[in-house]
Amino acid sequence: MVQKTVFLSRIFPKLATQLLEGAGFKVISWDKEYPMPYEQLTKAVKDCDALFCTLTDKIDSAFLNTCSHLDIITQFAVGYDNIDINEATKLKIPIGYAPNAMTEATADVAFGLMIATARKMFFMNQKIKDGKWSHFDPIGHLGLELKGKTLGILGLGRIGMAMAKRCKGAYDMEILYHNRSVNKRAEKELGAGFVDFDTLVSQSDVISVHCALTPETQGIFNKVVFKRMKPSSLFINTARGGVHNEKDLIDALNKGNIWGAGLDVTNPEPMKPNNPLLLMENVCVLPHIGSATITARNEMARMGARNIISFYEKGNVPNIVNP
Ligand code: DGY
Repeated sequence: MVQKTVFLSRIFPKLATQLLEGAGFKVISWDKEYPMPYEQLTKAVKDCDALFCTLTDKIDSAFLNTCSHLDIITQFAVGYDNIDINEATKLKIPIGYAPNAMTEATADVAFGLMIATARKMFFMNQKIKDGKWSHFDPIGHLGLELKGKTLGILGLGRIGMAMAKRCKGAYDMEILYHNRSVNKRAEKELGAGFVDFDTLVSQSDVISVHCALTPETQGIFNKVVFKRMKPSSLFINTARGGVHNEKDLIDALNKGNIWGAGLDVTNPEPMKPNNPLLLMENVCVLPHIGSATITARNEMARMGARNIISFYEKGNVPNIVNP
């Protein structure tokens, strides 16, 4: 086989290059820590055969048509809302991705954010740093307890299921979910109940978002929906920031429509340091670290490399979005 060249749009874990080079590929990688500018990426892949990219790369219709010579594109993520899948399919470019690589890591962050938000942990920690911890306060610093509360999951796939299991096991929470399809396993194993979106929103004590960002879910958590939530409820989002309207979230928190929010994803990313959410007592924000464990990131690298290697060696992509 003529040697194929793979372009890596970011500095990925070394394992990706090791596996690809070990299988005889030439690997070229962007060498800066920040995302590659769109125009540069378009030019860089000109003489390459395959692209290994991630959620910070805009793989839109224009990019795909300019780079339609690419044999395969694979995504270093489970989400692929940065890629125009319809256009790729029209151009017959297979799109690989990395499902399940970060399931446990992301569920840990959702679970951690839920507890941290319920107990205002980030804000309390900041108080110490600001020199404002003066004494034990018998009536201050109060948070919420989670035992026996109702968890509402939007998007009960792998990560939603891992979050639901944590909440059931740790707090015996009742699990409600809204999803594109019924999840029989969740119903059997966790007693989870399928409900419509309005019921999910109005009945849950904690809403945890695990759906993909699509035209249907874009901004679905807006002022109308936040108003329908319980004033004592928590909003946790570890999926995509585009699922919530950030201005409406700020208003909802200010007005007491909801009690708190834990975000690993924001809209836009990165969040500006002067965002009012960062000063709120009942809000915990993280910089999109759901998959940031050594195990998950190596698995994401391995899955991407495998998608490319298998495509050229066997003619199939093990984890493909557009079969
Ligand atoms: C994903 O995989 O989609 C995460 O957001 C980043 O790992």
